[in-house]
Amino acid sequence: MGFVAIGMKKCFIKTIPLWLNWVVVEEYTVSLAQHFTDRNFIGIDIKGARLWRGAKTINEENILHAAFLRTHIEWLPQFFAPSEIREIWVTFPDPQPQISRENRRITNPKFLKMYRELMGKDGILHLKTDNIGLFEYTLEMLEKEEGKLEICTKDFYVDTPKILIPVSKPPMNKYS
Ligand SMILES: C[S@@+](CC[C@H](N)C(=O)[O-])C[C@H]1O[C@@H](n2cnc3c(N)ncnc32)[C@H](O)[C@@H]1O
Repeated sequence: MGFVAIGMKKCFIKTIPLWLNWVVVEEYTVSLAQHFTDRNFIGIDIKGARLWRGAKTINEENILHAAFLRTHIEWLPQFFAPSEIREIWVTFPDPQPQISRENRRITNPKFLKMYRELMGKDGILHLKTDNIGLFEYTLEMLEKEEGKLEICTKDFYVDTPKILIPVSKPPMNKYS
C-alpha cells in the first residue's frame, strides 16, 4: 500500500504557516486558532472522541484555518510533505513510564527525527507535560539532538518564561 505525501496545505483556503498540535486537547487547537488567525492549525489524535468537540466548535464558529486529523502520528509523513510544518505542540502525551514502552514515547529519538523532517531546520517543537519522568527523559533525548533548547522550565507556575505569550483559554500545567 503506497502513500504519497499529499501535502496538507492544500486543505486550507489560505496557505499560511502550518502549526500542528499532537495528541490534542481539542480546545487547545481551537484556542490557538482563535488567537493566531494568521496560521493554520491541525489537531491530531488517534481517538476520535478526543477530536469531536473541537471539530464541532470550528464548524460552528466557521474557523477555516483549523482542522482535526484522526490518525497515528507515526503515519504523519504520509500526510505532510517534508518541511511543510512550522511548529509542533506536543501536549500532555502518555508518559509510557515502563522501559518496555519507550518505543511508544512520542519524544523518543525516532519521533524527534520524524518531527525534524516534517518541520525542517527552523521548526519549533513545544512539549507540555505534567509527568517529570517524561520531562527528564525528553531533555536527555534532546541533548543528543541538534537544535537549541529555547525555553525550559520545570514549574510553569513558579518560573513562567516571560517570552511565552499566554493564550487565553487553554489549561496550563506544571512542567513545560
Ligand atoms: C494522556 S492523553 C492526553 C490528551 C490531551 N493532550 C490532554 O491533555 O488531555 C494522550 C492522548 O494521546 C493519544 N495518543 C497516544 N499515542 C498516540 C499516537 N501514536 N498517535 C496518535 N495519538 C496518540 C491518545 O489517544 C490520547 O488521547
